[in-house]
Amino acid sequence: MEAELDTKDFIVIDNGTGYIKAGYSGEDAPKIVLPTVMSVVESQEQGKSKTMYSGADIDLKNPETPLFYPIDRGEIKSTEQDWECMSFIWEHIIKNLMQEELNSVNVLITDSILNTRENRQRMAQVFLETLGVNSLGIMPAPVLSLFSIGKTRGIVVDVGCGLTSIVPIFEGFALPHAIHKIPLAGNDITTFIHQKLSAHLKPTQMFLSRSIAEDMVVVPLQYRKGQELLSEDKRFYELPGGKIINVDQDILANAAEILFKPSIIGQDIKGITDQIVESIMKCDSDLKPDMYGNVVLSGGSSMMKGFHERVEKDIKNRLEGVSNNDIKVHADSFRQHAAWIGGSMLASLSTFGQFMTIKKEEWENDPNMKPSLIHKYSF
Ligand SMILES: Nc1ncnc2c1ncn2[C@@H]1O[C@H](COP(=O)(O)OP(=O)(O)OP(=O)(O)O)[C@@H](O)[C@H]1O
Ligand SMILES: [Mg+2]
Repeated sequence: MEAELDTKDFIVIDNGTGYIKAGYSGEDAPKIVLPTVMSVVESQEQGKSKTMYSGADIDLKNPETPLFYPIDRGEIKSTEQDWECMSFIWEHIIKNLMQEELNSVNVLITDSILNTRENRQRMAQVFLETLGVNSLGIMPAPVLSLFSIGKTRGIVVDVGCGLTSIVPIFEGFALPHAIHKIPLAGNDITTFIHQKLSAHLKPTQMFLSRSIAEDMVVVPLQYRKGQELLSEDKRFYELPGGKIINVDQDILANAAEILFKPSIIGQDIKGITDQIVESIMKCDSDLKPDMYGNVVLSGGSSMMKGFHERVEKDIKNRLEGVSNNDIKVHADSFRQHAAWIGGSMLASLSTFGQFMTIKKEEWENDPNMKPSLIHKYSF
């Protein structure tokens, strides 16, 4: 049965570099997962007017299609055009895909961790003024990911398309001094594979490299160059049209290692496990057991085969003076959409709508109060 929108219900929107997830509060999974991309086509017939398309309506395989990606490494970019894109995509989701009236919906939107107050205010402006929604809640995505497994203390390791964030959280609040952001994630793995297979794949066939990354990359417990990763037949990948290509073991082995050893793609930064351990070490001593006992994986790229086991093994090897039995890495099967699911759970609590959202009347009441409203409702 289709969900009916009650005035107390929320539309939950998780903004991602690669995909926006949207759906109704209280549901188990997002109703819509839309690529975060927009296209603007100058239409001659309509007197040179612009037609904007988003997500599934775009012909992503046509090299002529101009594409705009408004989110970069987890954050909405700063130009007017990027905000116009976001506003268009959000409106398209609520009005066309969810068929709801903008002025009667309540929205919970995820925020990237350590976002600036200015950006948050701009987000509120788009929703409460441009789109005119009823009320708006803004929550950091990692806090919601933790909430999705019923916890309020722990360290969230979110690996998405554009960004890996490592966020220790205590009683629902992120600990800013210990947050690590790594500008590496699924897109970097896909791009690496695409470059290595450029003899077989066209520039517009990035979606094939993504599918190779999702299906064939296996993170080993320990890195060994050129190891046997999969049985012999699995090294072959069938392209559309039936051509079969041989994907070299070395390409897959290195792709699997990018997050652990960023130097593979020339990045002079520490790998993910070192950064998780450093983040835990920055927490107060009495909070540390809550952190290493609750390492929570989230985001699509944390679904990579073998990723969970490798992270757990590496943390156990590197965290000195802690018994292995006390270290726990949670990898729930729904973790790809953990932030959205946590948002869905939180927004279905009556206290959320009452105490944790900005109401349109409040926002419109006194323009000078906008910064303090953002401050009051930032969690
Ligand atoms: N089973 C899988 N194995 C490996 N990678 C996967 C799998 N499923 C999804 N991914 C990858 O996860 C990424 C999408 O994850 P997600 O939706 O969490 O990112 P996002 O929220 O758009 O980005 P970000 O959080 O970085 O802003 C893509 O790179 C995709 O290829
Ligand atoms: Mg994300």
